[in-house]
Amino acid sequence: RALEPYRNPAIPLPTDIFPNRQNSAGIDLSDPLVREPLMARLEKLDAKQWVAEPTFMSSAEGEMAPINKPHDLTAQVGTRRDALDFEVEEAIARAEAIQPGWNALGGEKRALLLEAAADLFEDHTDEFLSLCQREAGKTLQDAVLELREAVDFLRYYATEARRLFAEPIPLPGPTGEENRLSMAGRGVFACISPWNFPLAIFIGPPAAALASGNTVVAKPAEQTPLIAALAVELCHEAGIPEEAFQLLPGAGDVGEMITSDPRIAGVAFTGSTQTAQAINRSLAGRDGPIATFIAETGGQNAMIVDSTALPEQVTRDVVASAFQSAGQRCSALRVLHIQEDVYDEMLAMIRGAFDALVIGNPENLATDVGPVIDPDAKTSLERHIARRKTGGSQVWRRKLHRGSSKGCYVAPTIIELDSILDLKRENFGPVLHVVKYKAADIERVMEEINATGYGLTLGLHSRNDDMRAFIEARARVGNFYVNRNQIGAVVESQPFGGEGLSGTGPKAGGPHYVARFATERVVCIDT
Ligand code: NAD
Ligand code: ALA
Repeated sequence: RALEPYRNPAIPLPTDIFPNRQNSAGIDLSDPLVREPLMARLEKLDAKQWVAEPTFMSSAEGEMAPINKPHDLTAQVGTRRDALDFEVEEAIARAEAIQPGWNALGGEKRALLLEAAADLFEDHTDEFLSLCQREAGKTLQDAVLELREAVDFLRYYATEARRLFAEPIPLPGPTGEENRLSMAGRGVFACISPWNFPLAIFIGPPAAALASGNTVVAKPAEQTPLIAALAVELCHEAGIPEEAFQLLPGAGDVGEMITSDPRIAGVAFTGSTQTAQAINRSLAGRDGPIATFIAETGGQNAMIVDSTALPEQVTRDVVASAFQSAGQRCSALRVLHIQEDVYDEMLAMIRGAFDALVIGNPENLATDVGPVIDPDAKTSLERHIARRKTGGSQVWRRKLHRGSSKGCYVAPTIIELDSILDLKRENFGPVLHVVKYKAADIERVMEEINATGYGLTLGLHSRNDDMRAFIEARARVGNFYVNRNQIGAVVESQPFGGEGLSGTGPKAGGPHYVARFATERVVCIDT
């Protein structure tokens, strides 16, 4: 008999209570009547200069650092003013003071405010798309997906606020005893985010923290504070108090100062595994309450292609998984494993599609692969590719377009490897590694994938159900994708997050996420 998953009947799933909630429709860029006017409006926004500053400015001091386009380092998009030490101190004090009032609002009122923010995000579609392109170097297609995900996080976590924070849950007990469990915010949450989803991942964790009655100090990545500043401003316009959701721009030192403060009740971090480990050590060593730590980190994501797979489908999904968003997705395919019997044929088809990728300015609609985020990212990827070449690996590279030297472009690259274990770390960009395996060695292939210690995404292309069951039984990843690409998890349908070196869970956009930001309280009354 198949085991039923455990479900507390007192806490129904979101789909049981909100069957009609829908993710946002996005924008149909294939329709010229939608696309052409949008492109014209975006062109007008190109001249706009944006500013990111701490929500409460306690000083006129502080340097304004320029933020330039990743694809044209001579073009400025705006400026960032980092939070000063005493501004961080004061921000946490303000957030702490208002937290009991925010928590007392209850789930329904908090949900309404998050939904109002989602509506405002949609009203400001043009500005967000423009910033995703200019500040983060995203293609328009990626920018549209990013905004959709941000809006979906806000609305989904709003429904979660209603579901989890409505009435206390009655618990069983003997006659004469009343037991109930309720949830409450923990206090002030620090939300630290990366640049590769400068809107969706900047807003997702704060939305969940706010939904569950916490207040938030949010530090965006130093590369992309401008989108974050607009997001916070719109949340305030929606009615979320400024003290309850504060922006603290800055680099890692500002993040470190926030997370090591003993008044911080929890940290929701998304970024590299190395930074998550540093924060974890810092939380373990600090005084004060034991903090909740939610970390969503990197991956060494593999895909396995066996001899029953459909070559056209494999080609489409490999190219999307490895090169969409210039490979700058934590979910992106890094190491493709192809069965020996079909290796030459598959690789030839993939290389054909790889040769057809359009590399260039992400503000051009035809571009498939834009820039990487900054010169450091470029240097690190080029160093990796050079090292593999020197080590004797077969390497194929695309040529860069004219004008590419103004920006941080890395030519898309395919590298042959003997084993995934030849890689010591995540290479966060448009670089795909390929490994040939014998059918008889599939057990070893899975052992090696698991031995990396990462556990974010895994892809499989196979029409053999036994193979799917074999891989699924051995997969130690958060998200396993079969006969499709392995990127672009959708809120509520594919809750996203990894295990091991890839993160702590729970999954963003899933039914256990918001609860993790809350504390549970039980009341027992002798009646
Ligand atoms: P990063 O670790 O360099 O920086 C992430 C954030 O942490 C930034 O805001 C940074 O300023 C801050 N930070 C740096 N040092 C800090 C410290 N000591 N204390 C506190 N904060 C500190 O990562 P990145 O380069 O911005 O992002 C790319 C990484 O993020 C990749 O590894 C990618 O796989 C990962 N990522 C994971 C997910 C996921 O859901 N699992 C999603 C997106 C990105
Ligand atoms: N949620 C993002 C994806 O699935 C990271 O690609």
